[in-house]
Amino acid sequence: MKEFSITTNVIFGENCLERLDQIQDKKVLIVCDEFMVKSGVVDRIREHLAGCTVDVFSGIVPDPPIEVVSEGIQCLSRCDADVMIALGGGSAIDAAKAIREIGARLGLAHIHECYAIPTTSGTGSEVTKFSVITNAREGVKYPLIDQSLQPMVAILDPELVKTMPPSITADTGLDALTHALEAYMSVDATDFTDALAEKSVTLLAKFLPMAYADGEDLLAREKVHNASCLAGMAFNAAGIGLCHSIAHAIGGKFHIPHGRSNAMVLPSVIKFNANLESGESTVCARKLQRIARLVGLPGNDIYTSVYSLSRRIEAVKRSFGIPATLRDLGVDPDDVRKNMDSLVASALADSCTKTTPRKPSAEEVEAIISRITPL
Ligand SMILES: NC(=O)c1ccc[n+]([C@@H]2O[C@H](COP(=O)([O-])OP(=O)(O)OC[C@H]3O[C@@H](n4cnc5c(N)ncnc54)[C@H](O)[C@@H]3O)[C@@H](O)[C@H]2O)c1
Ligand SMILES: [Fe+2]
Repeated sequence: MKEFSITTNVIFGENCLERLDQIQDKKVLIVCDEFMVKSGVVDRIREHLAGCTVDVFSGIVPDPPIEVVSEGIQCLSRCDADVMIALGGGSAIDAAKAIREIGARLGLAHIHECYAIPTTSGTGSEVTKFSVITNAREGVKYPLIDQSLQPMVAILDPELVKTMPPSITADTGLDALTHALEAYMSVDATDFTDALAEKSVTLLAKFLPMAYADGEDLLAREKVHNASCLAGMAFNAAGIGLCHSIAHAIGGKFHIPHGRSNAMVLPSVIKFNANLESGESTVCARKLQRIARLVGLPGNDIYTSVYSLSRRIEAVKRSFGIPATLRDLGVDPDDVRKNMDSLVASALADSCTKTTPRKPSAEEVEAIISRITPL
């Protein structure tokens, strides 16, 4: 027996922030980073909170560490809010989820309504049961997974993503693409998650380059924002895979933006998963052939399709200025090799590895990491 449900209420389209007008006479805590305060987005949110007492916790930093979650819980406990609004990229939304959940378990918080307003188009965190928290001292990322982490309402306003510079558009957009493709390849994929993933990939193939080239293109921004949310719905149910496991390991250790870490290994992971050398036409390879056709790549034989898809992702990465190696990102290759055993162990132990379609050995994970760490 399998199950599929989407429990988050998704509000989108023109003027969708007006949904916040329904929050009246409440104690509200907005969780965000300093950029959201300085750029005036927090004030735009406040305008919709008539009669509410509004507190702002603006201590979020990228890849939120446990210490920030702890500060957020203290803030939540002090202001005793009954509504939480997570505003920002995946880091703000993930941290807000952890603050609410751990605060409630400690008896320090009583949030009745939680809203997520993403300002990047990548993580899909606004509709997922995941929250990724970093142990900065050990350089390790931990995905928390619980149904109760899922936001009740997600508000997708494309106006809010227009300020992303091209590099963040690229990193986060490629994170969304990785979610869609990993959900599609997952051992837990179903017809329902495949439908979401396919739509997400086709939207990203067309509109992500447009949003990267012109951040003011509101149609492209809207489509990429929706694609990110669709991918979030897909992987929320199907899970993700090895690409994310490796991305968590290298991103946590070397402080590389999450989407960029994914983008670096995605083409290798696709080829690894398809396992064309086995001589068998695996389910994963056949599905990748279908995706290749959907985005207009040659689709007559599996081998050509999988390689065309992998090459297309490489080409998009290059056009987005994403470096091909960790050295190009300023990481010392000797440092990678010195930490190789722990990186591999961390990737294999990552919960995302459970749903990856081809179980990797330690040597195979090492080979994928070595490909982006040439001598
Ligand atoms: N919960 C999930 O399901 C899930 C899935 C994937 C990734 N993640 C996690 O999410 C985090 C990454 O989130 P992210 O990729 O959205 O980046 P982020 O939230 O870390 O933000 C990156 C940078 O973009 C800036 N920013 C955000 N919105 C902006 C805007 N509109 N204009 C200009 N700048 C803006 C932020 O201030 C920050 O400096 C990682 O910790 C990752 O592990 C979570
Ligand atoms: Fe991701």
